[in-house]
Amino acid sequence: MTITAPNPYGYFDDARREYVVTRPDTPLPWLNYLGQDEFFGLCTNTAGGYTFWKDAKLRRLTRYRYNNVPYDLGGRYLYVNDGGAVWNPGWKPVKAANVAYECRHGLGYTRIVGERDGLEVETLFFVPPGENLELWKVTVRNKSAQRKTPKLFSYQEFCFFEALNDMTNYQRTYSIGEVEVEGAAIYHKTEYRERRNHYTLFACTHPIAGFDTSRDAFVGIHEGLHEARVPFAGQCTNSVAFGWNPIGSHQIDLDLAPGESTTFAFVLAYVEQGDTPKFDAPFVMNKAVGRAIVEKYSAPGAVDAALADLKKYWDDLLSKFQADCPNEHANRMLNVWNQYQCMATFNMSRSASMYETGIGRGMGFRDSNQDLLGFVHMIPSRARQRILDIAATQLSDGTCFHQYQPLTKKGNAEIGGDFYDDHLWLVLSTCAYIKESGDVAILPAPCGYADKVYASDDQCETLLHHLETSIAYTMKKRGPRGLPLIGHADWNDCLNLNCFSTEPNESFQLAGDVKDSKAESVMIAGLFLYAAREMAELYDFTGQGADADRMRAHYAEMLDVIEREAWDGEWYTRAYDAEGRVVGSKANSEGKIFIESQGWCVLGGAGTDNGRARQAMESVHKHLFTRNGVVLQQPAYSTYDKNLGEVTSYPPGVKENAGIFSHNNTWINLGWCLLGDGDRALEYYLSICPSAKQDQIETYRGEPYVYAQMIAGKDAPCFGEAKNNWLTGTAAWTFVTVSQGLLGIKPDYAGLRIDPCIPKAWPGFTATRQFRGNTYRIEVKNPEGVSKGVKRLRLDGMEIDPAAPIPFVEDGKTHAVEVVLG
Ligand code: GLC
Ligand code: GLC
Repeated sequence: MTITAPNPYGYFDDARREYVVTRPDTPLPWLNYLGQDEFFGLCTNTAGGYTFWKDAKLRRLTRYRYNNVPYDLGGRYLYVNDGGAVWNPGWKPVKAANVAYECRHGLGYTRIVGERDGLEVETLFFVPPGENLELWKVTVRNKSAQRKTPKLFSYQEFCFFEALNDMTNYQRTYSIGEVEVEGAAIYHKTEYRERRNHYTLFACTHPIAGFDTSRDAFVGIHEGLHEARVPFAGQCTNSVAFGWNPIGSHQIDLDLAPGESTTFAFVLAYVEQGDTPKFDAPFVMNKAVGRAIVEKYSAPGAVDAALADLKKYWDDLLSKFQADCPNEHANRMLNVWNQYQCMATFNMSRSASMYETGIGRGMGFRDSNQDLLGFVHMIPSRARQRILDIAATQLSDGTCFHQYQPLTKKGNAEIGGDFYDDHLWLVLSTCAYIKESGDVAILPAPCGYADKVYASDDQCETLLHHLETSIAYTMKKRGPRGLPLIGHADWNDCLNLNCFSTEPNESFQLAGDVKDSKAESVMIAGLFLYAAREMAELYDFTGQGADADRMRAHYAEMLDVIEREAWDGEWYTRAYDAEGRVVGSKANSEGKIFIESQGWCVLGGAGTDNGRARQAMESVHKHLFTRNGVVLQQPAYSTYDKNLGEVTSYPPGVKENAGIFSHNNTWINLGWCLLGDGDRALEYYLSICPSAKQDQIETYRGEPYVYAQMIAGKDAPCFGEAKNNWLTGTAAWTFVTVSQGLLGIKPDYAGLRIDPCIPKAWPGFTATRQFRGNTYRIEVKNPEGVSKGVKRLRLDGMEIDPAAPIPFVEDGKTHAVEVVLG
C-alpha cells in the first residue's frame, strides 16, 4: 500500500480508513463527527467543535460560537505547559510555533498528535457505541533525553443545554450557571435545581493537581483562548463558578523520565438522573450515576476496550457492502467515506455542521427520507424506526411538517408544511426499507397523523395508510395542466412560485399563501411517477393486484400529462408559475433549462418510448455539465424576480441559482445508468467526487473525504469552490448511484437484482454484499467491453435467469454470484 501526498494538506490512508491532515492550517476547518447512536460531537482538525445529546438545539452540552474569528474556535482543548512554553497538540488556540502536527480523522474518532521539544501529546477523541459520552484518550511521551515535568490543562466550555437561549439570553444565563466538583470530576448542573433532570460530567481518570470551572478565572476577562491566563501562569485557581460562564478544566502535573510515557483519559458524559433522588443534601446533587461512569472508565483497559468496540462497530457496518473496482476514488469513497457520511446525514439530517448551527433546523421530512436511502443497508432496524417517526409528522390531509425536532419528534410549527414534494419521499424510503429487509410487516404498523389524537395505538392508522394518503394527495392537488401543485416549494426549496416577497426580512419558504395557488411542478410530477411505480411493484409483491393496477393507472395518467404538457422540444420544463407562465423553457430568457425535472422525469420513466429521455439527458450534458459537476440551471438568474422567489436571490453560480448542487447531480448520474451509458456515469460521478478534487484543493477548499452540498458553478468567480460540506442528500444518493446504478447491485423485494452499468473500459469488478443475513460474493466480468447488459448469471455455479432477482433463501451462508456482461 503506497501512501501518496496528492494535496499539501493531507492524504488518504486507505488501509487504515483514515484521512490524515498533515497541516493544521487547512483551507477551511476540516470536520469529523464523533458518535453514532444518540451522543454526538463535531470535531475539526484542530479539535474544535462541540457535543450534544440527540438534539443539537435542545440538549447542547458544550459551547461553540459559530462564525467566529477565526472560523473554528472553541472545542476540546488541551493546553500543555512544558517548562513555561505553552502549546496545544491540535495547534489551536495558542498556535505556537514549532509544533509537529498530525490529525487523523477516522471512523467515529479523531486522533491529533502534537510534538514540541521532545514532548509528544496524543489526543484521541471518540464516542463508544451505545454510550452517552465522549472519551479523550491522552498519551504523553517524553521523547527527549531529559526528565520533563509538563503540566496539562483541559478546557471545555459548558452549554446550558438549550442552545439558542444559551447564545442569546445573557440577562438570565449569566446568573444561573452552577457546578460541583468532586475529586477529578466536574459536574455541570445549571438548571438542575429546577426542571432539568440531567447534567454534564467532565472528569479525568488521572489524579488532578487542581481545577477551574469559571471561565473568567481560567481565561480572563480581556484575554482570548490563545492567551488564557491559567495555562500560561502554569497554575490553576480551583475556581467554582457561580453564574457567568462555567467551564471544565483539570490541571494534571506529570513527571516523565526520558523515554517514559503515560496514558489517561477524560470523560465527557451526558447523564440522566432517572428516578433516583436528585439531591443528597440541600445544594448537593446526587452524583451516583456520574461516579459510576468515572469508575467504569478509570478501570485499566476500559478506554481501549471501548475503542476496540468502535472499530468493530464500523468494520461490521462497512462489511455490509464492499467493492473492488478499477477506480481508486470510487473504491475509497464507496467502501469507506461515502457510507460514513451516510451515517452522519442519517443522524444529523441538516442540523449541525460547520454551516448549520444546530439551532435552526431539526430533521427535515424530505431530507431524512432521502438520507435513509444510503443508510438502510447498514442498520435496517434504525431505518424502520425513523420511517415511523417521520411518517407520524404527516398531517391527515397528506401534507407534512417540513421539519421536526429529534428530541420531541414533534413537527416544527414555525416552518409548518405545504412543500408539496415532501410526502412522496416517504414512499421511496419505505419501499427501500422493505426491499432491503423484506419486512412487509412495517406496512400495517400503527402510525398516526400529527393533527389527530389517539387514545391507543390500535386506533392509529397504519404506515400503508400514509403511503396511500401521499399518493392520493398528489393526484388530487393538481393545477390547470394536471401537473402537481408546488406549494411553498418542491425539492428546490428556493423555487418559490407563491411567495412574491418584497420584504427583506421575510423567509422565502414561509411567505405567500399557497392555498388557492395554481403554480405547478414538473419535478414533482416526475417524482410521482417514480413513487407510483414503487407502490405498484410493492402491491405486486404483497399480492394486491387490484391496488397495483390502481397505481399503474395513476402512473399512466401522470405520464400522459407530463408528455403532453411539459416537453419543451429538447428537455422537460421545470414548472408553471402562479400565472401559468412556464419556468425552465427556451421561451425564458434566463433559467431556460433546469436539472431536477430532467432527472426525475427520466428516473420516473418519462421519455422512454419516444426518445425524450435521452434527448433530455443530452441537453443536460450540453447546457449544464461542467468538469466540476452539473449546474442547477442555465442561464443563471441575473436579477431578483419575486415571481420565482429565492432561486433568483442568490448571485449567479451559487446555491440554487446555477450552483452545482451536488445532490441533484446524482439523479442525472442515475439517469445515465438507466440509459446504459457507463462512461458518462463515471465521468459525472468523478466530477463532484471530493477525493478526485485534491489536485485543485486550493480552489475546492472543502474536506476531500465528504461530499459538499454545493460547488460554485461556472457563473461564479470561484468556480469549483465547495461549500456546505457534510450534511447533504448527496451522501445517500451517491451511495445509491454507485452501488445500485454503476455497480448495479439492487435490493429488490424478491432478492438482489444485478444490473451494472460500468465504463466500457472496465474489465469488471468484485463486490461483497450482505443481504437479509446472507452474504453474496459477486464477480462481474466484462469480456466484451460493454457498459450494460447481463448475459449470464450464476448462483453458486448454477445458471439462473439474468433478468430476475437472485431468488432469496435465507440461510445465513455465503453465496458466489458470477455475472458476465455482454
Ligand atoms: C437543502 C435542503 C433540502 C432542499 C435543498 C434544495 O439541501 O435541506 O431540503 O431540497 O436544499 O433546495
Ligand atoms: C435556503 C437554501 C436552501 C435550503 C433552504 C431551507 O433557501 O438555499 O438550500 O434548503 O434555505 O433552509
